[in-house]
This record gives sequence, structure tokens and C-alpha cells, in this order.
Amino acid sequence: MRELIKRKRDGFELSKEELAFIINGFVAGEIPDYQLAAFLMAVYFKGLNYEETANLTDVMMRSGALIDLSEVKGIKVDKHSTGGVGDKTTLVLGPLVAAAGVRVAKMSGRGLGFTGGTIDKLESIPGLNLKLTTQQFMDKVKKNGIVICGQSEHLVPADKKLYALRDVTSTVDNISLISSSIMSKKLACGADAIVIDIKVGSGAFMKTEQRATELAKMMIGIGTKMNKKVIAVLSSMQEPLGYAVGNALEVKEAIDTLKGQGPKDLTALCLELGSQMLVLGEVTANKKEAVSILEKLINSGAAFEKFKTLIQSQGGDIQYIEQPDLLPNTSFLQIYKSNKSGYLKEINARNIGLASMELGAGRQTKDSEIDYGAGILLQKKVGEYIQKGQQLAILYSSNERKFAKAKELLDSAFITNKTKVISKPLILKTISS
Ligand code: URA
Repeated sequence: MRELIKRKRDGFELSKEELAFIINGFVAGEIPDYQLAAFLMAVYFKGLNYEETANLTDVMMRSGALIDLSEVKGIKVDKHSTGGVGDKTTLVLGPLVAAAGVRVAKMSGRGLGFTGGTIDKLESIPGLNLKLTTQQFMDKVKKNGIVICGQSEHLVPADKKLYALRDVTSTVDNISLISSSIMSKKLACGADAIVIDIKVGSGAFMKTEQRATELAKMMIGIGTKMNKKVIAVLSSMQEPLGYAVGNALEVKEAIDTLKGQGPKDLTALCLELGSQMLVLGEVTANKKEAVSILEKLINSGAAFEKFKTLIQSQGGDIQYIEQPDLLPNTSFLQIYKSNKSGYLKEINARNIGLASMELGAGRQTKDSEIDYGAGILLQKKVGEYIQKGQQLAILYSSNERKFAKAKELLDSAFITNKTKVISKPLILKTISS
């Protein structure tokens, strides 16, 4: 291992066998965290080329069980986001496209760095079981057309271990490490086609459109090599998605969106990604028709019903979905007001994510406990005019001492302009194989 770290540190290419030695040794507990951490940092600085990234993906995918979805009828379409702030799209999209007939068999992750994770959000619903066996996973997708599980010891254990180590060694935002992490999970879960939502901007791992495009091409390349169709949608993170940031707060906003009363940006992104999924799943031939199907499913209540089926079938208490005010709350809230006037030009999503983490919505260490009701409810969006003294956000935490640091982070999150601001488009571009 010492020799392999040195070779990568010095910029040499590693063979598939060498990458397998590293990953399998790490999963088996034979290679310690500190050597893997050094290896990850070497990869971070020297990179992996396309061949090495595809090989790493394959090795990671095979580090645990592989799910064979061939028994499930139809084209299985999966979706994954590279991670954002306020990004609760899976909670809306999963049931929405499942209601349209696409089979959704999804493995999701926990929060990473300042970004939230679908599994943490769903765990704010009492009773919900996200640790499923492969058989339960298969049975539920066959019966309900949708299932969501967390990463287990059985599926891609290499990513579960690497993800946690990357999180605490500042080695997340690397194109090869993100590509192999996402693609190994999607491929192990048996997806035929994959839609990747690549977040771009201050609140994302990819800060520029150019880097996001490189990441898209890498993932498309890996997918093509494995005979899978991949579409990458680049979407802006110049502000958090929607208004809610924090686990239970985001579940409530997702429920509103499934009922057709959600924020405009979140709804638009779900319709864009969802229509791509419907076309890939061959439910319809074109995106325009797909959007109209999805809108009807929201308006008729069918999408929300599918969400209830998903929660109920995995042991969640449906009362909390019918009356979301019952979801975890916090004992304290504080109002954050503007210290200046002007047009909102940016709401720095990274700072909002960090502030929400600080309030208790995310983990400071691998073993931190989450305060499910904690987080931030924004009151404004980019482009709006704000007056000094006006409410910009409501902060929630169960620990009163957490507000001061969160407010400090918010002080530099709201960037204003004297003149009117035209907000950038939410969907920047779509790249396909
Ligand atoms: N999401 C993942 O699953 N992996 C990453 O590395 C980043 C986002």
C-alpha cells in the first residue's frame, strides 16, 4: 500500500489490479483509514484518468452484492444528484415518476460535507426503515414500483466506507471520486438508464460550469462503457433549492411540492429531471408530453398517494405525512433579519448549508446525532428586493447556544446589489451520451 500511495502521489497510472488491491483491502479492514486517507489525497491532487476512473467504478461496484432487476418489468431508470443545499428532489421525483409507471429502485446517501442527504431527510419520518435486505428491496419495487434504501454492508460497501472517509478528509470534490461513487451505486442497483443532476455553483462541489461539464462527460463515459444510457442535467446552486434546508423542514416542503404547492424552482427542476426519466424509461416519446403527464399526476393527487405508499410500505407512520406539522420540531426558533437593503444577487448555498449543519441538521463528525427538526426556512429568493430589517430566514434548533455561530455564517450569505438582478436560469444545460 505504501508503494501504491507513492506511485499515485508521483502521478503514475494505477492498474485495475492495483486499484482492486486498495479497495478490497480497505473494505476487508486490512488497509487502515490513515493509508486510505493518504491515497485519497494523492488522487485528489494527481487525479485519475478516464481508464482508472472506470476501473475504480467497476471495482467499487463489485465490492458487495449486485442487484439483478431483470425480474422487474420495464426499463429501470435511476436518478442521482451530486449534492446540493435544500436539494430534496428525490423525495418528490421518486414517487412522481413511479406514479407515471417508471420503476424506481433507489439507493440514496446521507449528508456529505455541507450538503444534505436523502436518507437523513427520510429518517425524520418516525418508523421508516431504510435498511433493507436485497430481497425486501426487490419485493418492494415489484409491488409498489418504488423503493428507497440507504447504503448497507451488502451493496457497494466500498462507497459507504470511502464516502465517510472523504467527508472528513476534504477529498469530496474530485471528479473521479464523485463519478466512481455515484456510478458504482447506480450500476450495482441494476439501473438501465441514469439521470444525473449535477449541481453547479457556490453551494455545490462543482463550482463552475466547465468543471461540471467535465464531471458529466466522465459519468457518461463510464455509463456508455457499461451499456447504460446516461443523461446529465447541470442545474444552478446560486441559491438553495426551494426555501427549506434541514431534514424535517425539507420533507414538509417535498410534501407541499407533491401536492402542487411547492416552490417554483423545486417544481421546475422535478419536472425537468422527471421528464428526462420518463423519456429514458420509454413511458413517452418526448419531454413535452412527459411534463404534461407529470403535471396531471401532481394535480390529481396520484404523486402524493405514491409517496404515502412508499412510506407505508417501509414501515413509516403515515400520520406524519398526512399531518406534516407532527414531524420533528425544535424547542427554539430565531428570526434572522437583513442588515442591508438591495436586490438579492446570491444566497450563498454553502454558508446556508454550513449554518444549517451548525444548528444541528448535519453531522460535525462521523458519529454526530442529527437534530431532525433543525434547519433554516428562507423567506426570500434571488432577484427579490429586501429592506434593511426585513426577515430573511427563520432558524430552528433544539440547542439555543447554536444560533450565534449560524447567524455569523448567514451574515455573509445574502449578497445584494443596488440595481435589479436578473436571476440565472435554473437549468444550465443537458448533456447526453
Ligand atoms: N453523491 C455521491 O453519491 N457521491 C459523491 O461523491 C458525491 C455526491
